[in-house]
Amino acid sequence: PTLKHPPTVWTDGTLSLLTHGYAWLPDHMRASPDGIVRTRLLGRRTVALRGPEAVDFFYDEQHVQRRAALPDPVLDTLFGQGAVHTLDGRAHRVRKAMFLGLLKDERGIEALRDHVLLRWREAVGRWGDAPEEGVVLFDETARILALAVCDWTGVALTAEDGEQLARDCVAMVDGFATAGPRHLRARHARKRQEQALAQLVVRVRERQETAPDGCALEVVARHRDADGTLLDPRLAAVELLNIIRPTVAIAWFATFAAHALHRWPQHRGPVRGDVSGHLATGFAHEVRRFYPFAPFVGGIAVRDLEWHGESVPEGTLLLLDLYGQHHDAQWWDHPYRFDPHRFGTGESLRHLVPQGGGDPAEGHRCPGEDITVTLLAALVTELAGLDIGVPDQDLTIPLSRIPTLPRSGFRFHLS
Ligand code: HEM
Repeated sequence: PTLKHPPTVWTDGTLSLLTHGYAWLPDHMRASPDGIVRTRLLGRRTVALRGPEAVDFFYDEQHVQRRAALPDPVLDTLFGQGAVHTLDGRAHRVRKAMFLGLLKDERGIEALRDHVLLRWREAVGRWGDAPEEGVVLFDETARILALAVCDWTGVALTAEDGEQLARDCVAMVDGFATAGPRHLRARHARKRQEQALAQLVVRVRERQETAPDGCALEVVARHRDADGTLLDPRLAAVELLNIIRPTVAIAWFATFAAHALHRWPQHRGPVRGDVSGHLATGFAHEVRRFYPFAPFVGGIAVRDLEWHGESVPEGTLLLLDLYGQHHDAQWWDHPYRFDPHRFGTGESLRHLVPQGGGDPAEGHRCPGEDITVTLLAALVTELAGLDIGVPDQDLTIPLSRIPTLPRSGFRFHLS
């Protein structure tokens, strides 16, 4: 009998992922005749998929579980040991409900946006006195978001602690996918913030510290898991950080938004003039589609599965290619064109998965998506409204680095 394809050689792709970054999976996808990538990561047999049908397949709990899918280096830096990201079934539902209650509430989101705008305007006041070389937008936005999200979660901070928290949140995200000094910095940052927040949770429980009713600090401190127990203080700190850290991470998208406004200045006027805010929201979605942030998500096949004729044995690591899906012409008209109008003209938000897919209440899709879009749209409007000068700098965005950013962090001064 003739073989349709040569037998697959399951070579380990870990090193290649570390060196090629965002390009790793899309390169393999392009080279694959059937759109499925077969490889190994950290020695484990791995199959990568892409596309709306793959999203449904991946987010079915009968197919994929998260327990044991995330390696310790990622948990010890980005998410924290025991985080909601690592739970399945009822344990996940109960913990996830806590996040959804906090993060999907419309009035709560508006309050957070108001905190961000307040901190932004304070910063704009300072930027007028900045030295000639200007300020770095990424650093400034991370600090603004850290202070605002702490105002909102009920975590009282001095300006100095706010600086440290912003730096630590950035370090946790920056160092999760690499070895060496960036990774060590991420581990130290997590340890420091987990310790500080765990002590705060204990003080709230012992009523030595008050937290406003319904704020994240109070809700997480009082939350009971599926087994009826309180989270131990370190785990409560992990989950508080799972609200604070990704909110600070919106600084990545804000910096990409500034890059887009600079690169395609024709959008600046229309965003300024659009009082409805629809264009700023479309711009925010397009930033989330166009620019690289979360490359893929992963989970473990819970039983022997089949995907388009491919057998996927139990225990296989399944990857869903998020970044690649956003640049595939099967689902996007001119995927490499930055077009903030595309979501108003028929292209589907269903295909947009920068923060995961499926139903956030049923699966692991990000519960912070509404917050991300609201804050990013507000920042896009503010950025478009500023008259700025952008000195010569290196604005290239290296795809080999996860996470990536314009190399300069986007330096500017008010003009
Ligand atoms: C999960 C991306 C902002 C809280 C996720 C996932 C991705 C993601 C890819 C995993 C989905 C999966 O495993 O299937 C992002 C990006 C953000 C962002 C790119 C932009 C900065 C936020 C914000 C919050 C948040 C602002 C909270 C305020 C979470 C939590 C989870 C999560 C708690 C775990 C959900 C679960 O496991 O059920 N996010 N996120 N994220 N995100 Fe976000």
